[in-house]
Amino acid sequence: MKITCTGLVYVFISLFLNTSCVKAVFSDDAFVTDWQLANLGPWKKIIPDSRDHNRVLILSNPTETSSLVSSFNVSSGQILFRNVLPFTIDEIHLDSNDHNAVVCVNSSSQQWQKFNLHDWFLLDEGVNNTPATTILPQPLYPNEQIFVNDNELHILNRESSLAEWKLELPQGFNKVEYFQHEDPLALVLNVNDTQYIGFSINGTELIPAWTRDESLTNVVDYVVLDVFDSKDVELNKDMIAELDSDSLWNAYLLRLTTNWKRFMSLLKENHFSPGRVFTRLLALDSKDTVASDLKFGFSKILIVLTHDGFIGGLDMSNKGQVVWKLQLDIDQGIRIFWTDKNHNELVVFSHDGHYLTIEFLNNLPIVKLRSALPVRKNVGSVIRLNEHQYQYLIKFDNANHLLFTLDPRNDTDALVSSNHYAGSRIFITEHDKNGIYGYLIENDMIEKTWQRAMKSSEKVMAYGRRDETNLNTLGITLGDKSVLYKYLYPNLAAYLVADEELHTVTFNLIDTITGEILITQEHNDSPDFRFPTDIVFGEYWVVYSYFSSEPVPEQKLVVVELYESLTPDERLSNSSEDFYYDPLTGHTNKPQFLTKQFIFPKIIKTMSISKTTDDITTKAILMELEDGQITYIPKLMLNARGKLAEEMTNEDKKEFLATPYTPVIPINDNFVITHFRNLLPGSNSKLISIPTNLESTSIICDLGHDVFCTRITPSGQFDLMSPAFEKGKLLITVFVLLVITYFIRPSVSNKTLKSQWLIK
Ligand SMILES: *[C@@H]1O[C@H](CO)[C@@H](O)[C@H](O)[C@H]1NC(C)=O
Ligand SMILES: *[C@@H]1O[C@H](CO)[C@@H](O)[C@H](O)[C@H]1NC(C)=O
Ligand SMILES: *[C@@H]1O[C@H](CO)[C@@H](O)[C@H](O)[C@H]1NC(C)=O
Ligand SMILES: *[C@@H]1O[C@H](CO)[C@@H](O)[C@H](O)[C@H]1NC(C)=O
Ligand SMILES: *[C@@H]1O[C@H](CO)[C@@H](O)[C@H](O)[C@H]1NC(C)=O
Ligand SMILES: *[C@@H]1O[C@H](CO)[C@@H](O)[C@H](O)[C@H]1NC(C)=O
Repeated sequence: MKITCTGLVYVFISLFLNTSCVKAVFSDDAFVTDWQLANLGPWKKIIPDSRDHNRVLILSNPTETSSLVSSFNVSSGQILFRNVLPFTIDEIHLDSNDHNAVVCVNSSSQQWQKFNLHDWFLLDEGVNNTPATTILPQPLYPNEQIFVNDNELHILNRESSLAEWKLELPQGFNKVEYFQHEDPLALVLNVNDTQYIGFSINGTELIPAWTRDESLTNVVDYVVLDVFDSKDVELNKDMIAELDSDSLWNAYLLRLTTNWKRFMSLLKENHFSPGRVFTRLLALDSKDTVASDLKFGFSKILIVLTHDGFIGGLDMSNKGQVVWKLQLDIDQGIRIFWTDKNHNELVVFSHDGHYLTIEFLNNLPIVKLRSALPVRKNVGSVIRLNEHQYQYLIKFDNANHLLFTLDPRNDTDALVSSNHYAGSRIFITEHDKNGIYGYLIENDMIEKTWQRAMKSSEKVMAYGRRDETNLNTLGITLGDKSVLYKYLYPNLAAYLVADEELHTVTFNLIDTITGEILITQEHNDSPDFRFPTDIVFGEYWVVYSYFSSEPVPEQKLVVVELYESLTPDERLSNSSEDFYYDPLTGHTNKPQFLTKQFIFPKIIKTMSISKTTDDITTKAILMELEDGQITYIPKLMLNARGKLAEEMTNEDKKEFLATPYTPVIPINDNFVITHFRNLLPGSNSKLISIPTNLESTSIICDLGHDVFCTRITPSGQFDLMSPAFEKGKLLITVFVLLVITYFIRPSVSNKTLKSQWLIK
């Protein structure tokens, strides 16, 4: 009987595990949490595709140095294929000898490329000697078949010359972009310059079939607006009221009464039925994604600033839907910032030296102020001086600087921060191709403190400042319980220098206060400078990438980890009470470092580090690859202390999450977060990471020509139960176990007791 009893428990447990395992099938999140704004940029030309009336070719020049030729379905408004050309073009012709090929030409420089129309395979290219081509007819609108009269568009029947279709023009109508009479009829209108509306026939009417908005192409900067749950706001008010009450007792009473009220309203909502309250607790919003998105901080508005001077608000929990947009009438957007902590007002800086403040009224943006900077020069970059919310350092294209204070709004916060400013010192580090420069801002003056100029054959290839992270542990616990202390001095930056004469790439770690080089490391495996390089600097480690051509062409990834000392348990920084870092008096200890090199199978364009709320989740290195894919690898895989598996001692293996050194990092398909999307990041794309309320989860976006966002969980989703997790089954199992322990067990022991008495 006893055996059966334990068996029963096992059966239940395995049943429970089994059912929950079956439910927890690896759910493919592709196209569920991720979204993309696939842009074409303002259209230059539309060319009908002779093979299919549904299809057209659209030519657009989203940047000054490249063109985009896209295959587009005019009936559905879907992009079928996008092809980037490395130079700008103005003509697309059909090849006279091969009707399955198109020739894209720049008529002034006579540069051309020939493509297969079906798979967009590059067939041939050259300058001059353009292949013989057939020029496709380009109808102009309005014409004898289609004209505009009194806010109405008339389309005439070819034979009878009578109006066959009439259409009231939409607000902001600009021009007729495309019209095709053959079946299916297609009409595309351009509205407000960057919007396109496609029409189709429904019975006797022309109705809008699709719309496209090309205004948010080429994002240059962004800010994030958090959307709060109204319940949280209410709770917050209660907390403030409690804090404001005059005694502890009153505060306690207040909490008691508000909670009692809340409980009563919960009962009332459920018609005073305990059963309903219970079932509601069981069901607990597992299906309500809107509520959980709010709670977990996935509901955010991503506010983007584009090169052409638009700002747009994208709803991140709603597939990036454009909730609002605003044309700023500036020549070129440079930076966008929140001016205040409460995120009520934005400031935008333009290239020609203007700044705009933007306020929100009923959640819609309104330009409040438009003004010119005191110095009228072209702005290159803008830095916000961190602690001082209203102070900005503006760098002009001619390398001059301006310290600019935005007139603070009439609130007390602002006054406090502007007073606080007097007497503080801010160190700023800047870099360009020719050097690294240190500045000191003190008493509203900018002073150059140091510089590291490059030699004529040298070039700064990549630069990264140390990320500001929350400090969670001071060191790393090794297998034998000893500790290696991390080097946590904050004022550090790292950069890569390419030397074209010596064919080397050099990594340098620099103190940004004094400009002193702390570590330098040279690679002479023939780096190829035509390929991109990048560097990221996490808490106590640096990861950089470059392409080397010896012994075989390979993408290299190098990790450098900084420690106070490589001797375990030796701590230099705060071992004596009075030690603190002060580089100006020479009061520092230099880092000791370990480094390892890895091979990565694909070419890396840019890298960035994942961010979470508390920095407890292991960091991931996010990478945008040359082929437009985005992937990530956990920092754990790039371990500078890693040893080859066979060299690891038992002690080494005891270390938490110890990974052996594997020189080649494989690309795991599960970590390619763009999966089979076609992403056009553009040349200046930014890979960003936005923390959410869940420590495990970080939102990753790639902003550039397209906008792409998704969510990653580098350490797994440890703080969220899977939707397949069944509370009901768990509760039933617990209940069954209780029954077993309370009723069956006594009866079993009773029986054993009886049998002992009866038999012996
Ligand atoms: C274009 O869209 C129409 C309508 O949605 C569809 O019937 C047609 O198959 C599409 N054509 C292509 C080539 O995708
Ligand atoms: C043709 O190419 C030249 C140089 O590559 C560029 O300056 C020009 O704008 C291009 N012309 C057109 C029409 O795109
Ligand atoms: C075009 O702009 C005008 C004014 O800004 C606006 O009223 C109209 O709705 C816009 N048109 C469309 C189709 O959005
Ligand atoms: C087309 O017209 C019919 C009736 O006139 C209507 O029921 C239907 O909703 C229309 N379709 C669209 C896509 O508007
Ligand atoms: C600040 O408030 C005062 C009075 O409340 C007002 O006169 C002044 O115009 C305000 N300044 C700004 C910049 O809004
Ligand atoms: C080291 O000690 C000083 C003084 O006790 C303290 O101010 C400082 O924050 C400490 N630094 C670290 C890294 O713990």
